[in-house]
Amino acid sequence: MDDVAVGPLDLAARVDDALAVQALAFGLTDDEIGVRRHIVLRHLTTPGARALGATTPEGRLAGFVYGLPNDRSHWWSSVVEPYLRSTGLDFWLDDSFVITELHVHPAYQKRGIGRALITRITDEAPYPRSILSAIDTESPARALYRSLGYQDLARRVIFPSAPAPYAVMGAPLPLAR
Ligand SMILES: CC(C)(COP(=O)(O)OP(=O)(O)OC[C@H]1O[C@@H](n2cnc3c(N)ncnc32)[C@H](O)[C@@H]1OP(=O)(O)O)[C@@H](O)C(=O)NCCC(=O)NCCS
Repeated sequence: MDDVAVGPLDLAARVDDALAVQALAFGLTDDEIGVRRHIVLRHLTTPGARALGATTPEGRLAGFVYGLPNDRSHWWSSVVEPYLRSTGLDFWLDDSFVITELHVHPAYQKRGIGRALITRITDEAPYPRSILSAIDTESPARALYRSLGYQDLARRVIFPSAPAPYAVMGAPLPLAR
């Protein structure tokens, strides 16, 4: 990680920088950036929402993570709940910290920043478990999550408007080292 520091991020103030990182890492159109901007700012009003950033010595954002305590009445939870309930796994939706976004700028990937961000934010979350969704393909993100103890809770999960199916993953906290 060298010169990049991981610490608390005022994501509401840095939302445009964060979405620029997400657009490069994950791919977002300008329209999607506008939609995500509203969603992020709304998420940040949820009690218990937290964000961390990885910042260069010049103050540039190299990566970020944010998450919130799961709420079964929220859209994300209501989409995944039937998939988990059908296999008796929907207890993962209670007392659970959701990783909503994790992205590292391509120029800073593979230096341990993603691992540091998700490990620290979950270490600081006062919950026994964490859940997330990731595109259901073998990706660096899926490899990272598995190495931290996240296991598949559901596959081929369809979010309305998403172009590809997702996997829902869950891990006990603290994450595996
Ligand atoms: C997923 C992501 C955040 C990982 O960030 P990162 O800083 O590059 O990850 P780290 O350097 O901490 O690597 C941690 C682990 O991820 C996995 N990983 C990272 N890059 C990988 C690659 N190119 N291929 C396979 N596994 C990879 C490995 O398990 C790695 O552990 P290791 O170094 O012990 O082998 C980053 O690749 C990213 O932003 N991807 C695009 C956006 C995205 O998919 N976000 C997640 C949405 S669900």
